[in-house]
Amino acid sequence: MNTYSRCWLDYENPYLKKGSYTIFREQIQKDIAFYAIDPSLENTETGRVLTKEVGNFFSRFFEYSLTKVPKSGNRTLSLGLFSWPEVQKLLEGVPLPKYPEAFMIRYVSPEKGLVVGAKDPKGLVYGVFRLFSLLQQGISYTTLTLIEEPRNPLRILNHWDNLDGSVERGYAGRSIFFENNKITDDTDRLTDYARLLASIGINGVVINNVNVKERAPFLLTGEYLPDLVRLAQLFRPYGVRLYLSVNFMSPVIVGGLDTADPLEERVQRWWQERAAVLYKAIPDFGGFLVKADSEYNPGPHTYGRSQSEGANMLARALRPHGGLLIWRAFVYKLQDWRDRTIDRARAAYDIFHPLDGDFDDNVILQIKNGPLDFQVREPVAPLFGTMEKTNQILELQITQEYTGHQIDLCYLAPQWQEILSFDPHIEGKPATVASIVSGSTWGRPHGGMAAVANIGRDANWTGHWLAQANWYAFGRLAWDPTLSAQTIAQEWVRRTLSNDESMVNRVVAILQKSWPVYEKYTTPYGLGWMVTPGTHYGPSPEGYEYSIWGTYHRATHTEIGVDRTSTGTGYTTQYRPYWRDRYDKRETCPEELILFFHRLPYTYVMKNGKTLIQNYYDAHFEGYEEMRALQEEWNRLEGSVDPVVFTEVQQRFVQQEENARQWRDVINSFFYRKSGIPDEKGRPIY
Ligand code: GCU
Repeated sequence: MNTYSRCWLDYENPYLKKGSYTIFREQIQKDIAFYAIDPSLENTETGRVLTKEVGNFFSRFFEYSLTKVPKSGNRTLSLGLFSWPEVQKLLEGVPLPKYPEAFMIRYVSPEKGLVVGAKDPKGLVYGVFRLFSLLQQGISYTTLTLIEEPRNPLRILNHWDNLDGSVERGYAGRSIFFENNKITDDTDRLTDYARLLASIGINGVVINNVNVKERAPFLLTGEYLPDLVRLAQLFRPYGVRLYLSVNFMSPVIVGGLDTADPLEERVQRWWQERAAVLYKAIPDFGGFLVKADSEYNPGPHTYGRSQSEGANMLARALRPHGGLLIWRAFVYKLQDWRDRTIDRARAAYDIFHPLDGDFDDNVILQIKNGPLDFQVREPVAPLFGTMEKTNQILELQITQEYTGHQIDLCYLAPQWQEILSFDPHIEGKPATVASIVSGSTWGRPHGGMAAVANIGRDANWTGHWLAQANWYAFGRLAWDPTLSAQTIAQEWVRRTLSNDESMVNRVVAILQKSWPVYEKYTTPYGLGWMVTPGTHYGPSPEGYEYSIWGTYHRATHTEIGVDRTSTGTGYTTQYRPYWRDRYDKRETCPEELILFFHRLPYTYVMKNGKTLIQNYYDAHFEGYEEMRALQEEWNRLEGSVDPVVFTEVQQRFVQQEENARQWRDVINSFFYRKSGIPDEKGRPIY
């Protein structure tokens, strides 16, 4: 093992070279002995990267080297753009994909070999990594014709990294980008990072925290420019664009102006100049991400301007250079907990929906999956089905802020899959969140998926080894949202832990069960919150009850939850009629979300005939036991996975057991003490 893990790109991992590997290796050695590369790429960065990757993969994984030849032919792996005549010859008669970043992999014959062709250099990099993925998994290539293009134009990671090296909501060590207010020069790590991104199709990275504070506003000044150029250069051959989070107040903080009012000409000019300087140095710079008017971050509201006035002003500074302005919809007001007229869940829709149609074409609204904040389960945010004239990005959270801090196991792809396949029921238009954010539902020019990264400088990148699967899954789903969580988990295990069929199935089963189990022992039925304030790890049933954050359950001795129906806070009216009607009624509201939408007596009888409170008790007792079962299942894998991985995951499970027990007992005791209703099975409650 290296000083840090190469994750799913560790081609020397001996646990992947067992079983049928040897036969597969003999076969490929017979079939592929040479490689040829498109001469138009020869002297480019992409060409250099591809040559290195091919050499790296064959020598480390299959333990033999390919010889370079000038053109396609017998036993040759040919790599090139669709414009290269050699590729055209090999793909003759096959309809080629037309979109940017698309690729095709095809095994033609032993005489003509294997070809990876692509529309553009980025696509070729994706194609080559996909080919290696298939080979790593021992998937037969002899009948292969694979055509792929990404469903989402934008596939972006958001790092919440601060310039001092700390990471907001980071559970995997310090920042890979920053330390001591400088950009790091750990080129090996950063190059592997870029390779890992390219290998799962991620094409953009926001390197700094959305809370742009302390030194971070200075990223826009000349001081950091040479280092940003260096980062962009490092990312470029892997198809990854650099983005920055910016503070709306930058003209004041670093520009020496006395205002950041978006309608002031000198403010506009200041941003235009900054953008021009950035683009001169980094022509493919992606753009800005902005958290404005949110949680102490100033924005256009400071000057009585609207969200669109703020966003458009920045977008116009970027537009001459082809840049994008990504504006977060996470806007809400801090409140007085006594005030029942405010429902934070309503905020984003109330603020942004009236502005549909007002945003410039290079503005993209980045919307969190749910209306609150990355809880273990929330309904899908109503903005997704209702902003027809606005580009949208779905924002997910890979880092496990509310889902166990990468101490507890929580494979999130099943949650993301539910979100992506949610149909908002737009009248006369079949759609899903996936089709909406991709831009296809309403023919929007920009769109895609973003997620808050879960990585840091830990040796295994993600703290919990198995949390690598979440990083992997985000990339794969952003590329193709129709993939199943199960398939992605299988792929990740095969490439990272073991290629042995029964091992794969066992680890995948652990991963697949982990989110429902985590939900059960924490806050099921859409209740959410009840976390320790500040850290967000571990239970604190009333931790957020008497605070400014707008996340209350308002439990009394008889009932719990917020009535968000049409006759309550009215939140349900933000949905299309289909969902409004279903969420409004207790009988038709999906039970896994019932406490999100309804205020219920503890004695409310649920579909299984048991009361709400009994279901809550049962969920916690069962959730804990199911967690223990996952732990035991992991313990049985000793000897079949890398011993370091085995032991470190085992240790995390020990901590998770402690946490799950705490959640079970604190939540059950809270419910019991509030209600005085005992568990009908008489299990210990304190
Ligand atoms: C959550 C999180 C913050 C973060 C914020 C955001 O509230 O706790 O740390 O800044 O989300 O998404 O901006």
